[in-house]
Amino acid sequence: MNPPTAAYTAAMDEMSPEPLTSNDGPIVVAAWDLYKVYLTAGHEVPALAGVDLEVPAGSFFGIMGASGSGKSTLLYLIGGLTKPTRGLIQVEGHDLAQMSDRARTLFRRRRMGIIFQEYNLLPTLTARENVALPILLEGKSVNACRTRVDNMLDTVHLRERADHRPDALSGGEQQRVAIARALLNDPAIVLADEPTGNLDSKQSAEIWALLREIAHEQKKTILMVTHEAQGAAYTDRVVVLKDGRVVGSFEPKGTADAALVATGYQELAG
Ligand SMILES: Nc1ncnc2c1ncn2[C@@H]1O[C@H](COP(=O)(O)OP(=O)(O)O)[C@@H](O)[C@H]1O
Ligand SMILES: [Mg+2]
Repeated sequence: MNPPTAAYTAAMDEMSPEPLTSNDGPIVVAAWDLYKVYLTAGHEVPALAGVDLEVPAGSFFGIMGASGSGKSTLLYLIGGLTKPTRGLIQVEGHDLAQMSDRARTLFRRRRMGIIFQEYNLLPTLTARENVALPILLEGKSVNACRTRVDNMLDTVHLRERADHRPDALSGGEQQRVAIARALLNDPAIVLADEPTGNLDSKQSAEIWALLREIAHEQKKTILMVTHEAQGAAYTDRVVVLKDGRVVGSFEPKGTADAALVATGYQELAG
């Protein structure tokens, strides 16, 4: 795919843009020649150095790489949480870097769900209220959308825990609340940055299996950053980053075969 011209991008953002497509169907995220250089205390720290990426719709897509390889930076750029130094990213055809702060915030709230290693739940709210938070932020009441919230709790297999506060839930259950919250607005894409970083191996495996189930059964695009071969083994396709560059990709196709992924990863990044 050639990068679109600036005039084309501007025109697309004016209209509701046509989604990009590839041989694998619609593309949700596309990035061309992405660079990110951080400036700290007069030093330039290159985090990304020319990344091209295409994330097909409805896939469970992984990004692997060692610590410091640029995984979080790539996710933050896709989420519009920071801007590229050079290059272009589009989410559903929109260039977030060109949007006003308000438009970008609204786009993120309505079209993206973001999950971090920390669950970021409000301790005084129940699981159901935490899931409803995006709706509360829009000024609506929980009761107005109770069915939708409870459907999301069903999706993450947590309906029976709806009235529990975070301190009465395990880490894995708290992350499932965060996943339900991320899905509430029916986003185009869910971004997950090391979502199992605080979990033991059993709870981690449950979260990976759940994310795979959501991607496939609910036809959701999920982009997960991980440094664990076991987690990557649940994804359809993994892109490997090294020193801010894509060094290759492979397709675990959800086989959950961690040994195979570890070998593939070592060949690319080792
Ligand atoms: N806000 C920041 N300011 C300065 N340097 C940063 C910042 N965020 C990340 N970096 C640097 O950019 C590189 C990539 O970081 P990061 O994207 O967090 O990698 P990963 O998520 O793969 O561990 C690292 O060298 C890191 O130290
Ligand atoms: Mg990171």
